[in-house]
Amino acid sequence: MDNTIKNLLEQSKTKIETAKDSVELNNLYVEILGKSSKINNLTKTIPALPQEERAQAGQMINAAKKELEAIFQKTKQSLAASHKLGKSIDVTAPGKKQELGHLHLVSQAIEEIVDIFSKLGFSLQSYPEVDWDWYAFEALNMPKGHPARDDWETFFIASHRATSSLIDSQPNPKLGRQVLTPHTSNGQVREMETVKTPPVRMINISRCYRRQIDVSHTPMFHQFEGLLVDKKVSITDLKGTFDYFTKAFFGPNRVTRLRPHHFRFTEPSFEVDVTCGVCDGKGCRICKEGWLELGGSGMVHPKVLEAGRIDPKIYTGFAFGWGIERTIAMKTELPDIRLLYQNDIRFLEQF
Ligand code: DAH
Repeated sequence: MDNTIKNLLEQSKTKIETAKDSVELNNLYVEILGKSSKINNLTKTIPALPQEERAQAGQMINAAKKELEAIFQKTKQSLAASHKLGKSIDVTAPGKKQELGHLHLVSQAIEEIVDIFSKLGFSLQSYPEVDWDWYAFEALNMPKGHPARDDWETFFIASHRATSSLIDSQPNPKLGRQVLTPHTSNGQVREMETVKTPPVRMINISRCYRRQIDVSHTPMFHQFEGLLVDKKVSITDLKGTFDYFTKAFFGPNRVTRLRPHHFRFTEPSFEVDVTCGVCDGKGCRICKEGWLELGGSGMVHPKVLEAGRIDPKIYTGFAFGWGIERTIAMKTELPDIRLLYQNDIRFLEQF
């Protein structure tokens, strides 16, 4: 028995290892390990052996089968590696589906917002993400050291001349230090400088940066800033614009309301609320009282117009600055805006 198994094992090994392709390998599998193979027939002879030899014979046969099985697998892999496997094409095999990607949720929202405002005559502008203190604060009626600045949790940039610490940075005598823009309002005075004579109708979309992170804040986020300056612009124009945007972006049943607020760069200033989409403004677990806060707005402060060299006696305007991520969260009932930046395909694929 001993030698029969050993010989069979050796012969089979050689046969398997010299197989030319997968077809031959499959045929060999049937021949060597199939139902009526020599090794299976050997199993049938066990009961005829003397009692004391049966157990050992059984074990040897099983070990041999296992070894052969392993050699088959190895040979299959090496044939596949040398491209000998699958020479014939299986024309019935299903094709490989090419997955289509899509724009990130934030990019989709940006496209939609630009589209809505362009229908109202606002044109998309782009202003620096690293800007001077002057444009980010001072020109917006927030002088140096003013406590209102604290709300913006700003990252300051060390000047290239700074060597040891941030405190060494050299401010520009007129423009001050450089900051990572904490809001898109820096684009307001820049736009007035560019256009010079109203009408001004811009939408400025940019990345913003603040030292904040929690369910509704990420240190890098996006805002869209609107600015309209012309003769006889009033709060009615502001309200009408917000209503139009809200219905176009969130849906025809949503309405807006203005809540008095305070910003240094607008007078009067408002927070804009939109009715909650879950309960339609009735009040629910998400919104509490039926309203969700969209962001800040107001009538441009005369000092800001003056900083942009526009005469506030002739012209008036309104402005607003809202977070894109927040807007998306309000539309899709996103529980945590940090999900937007985790690059988790399971999340992104849902939009
Ligand atoms: N810049 C403000 C912020 O980031 C938002 C804002 C409020 C923008 C009022 C405006 C405005 O243009 O008029 O919180």
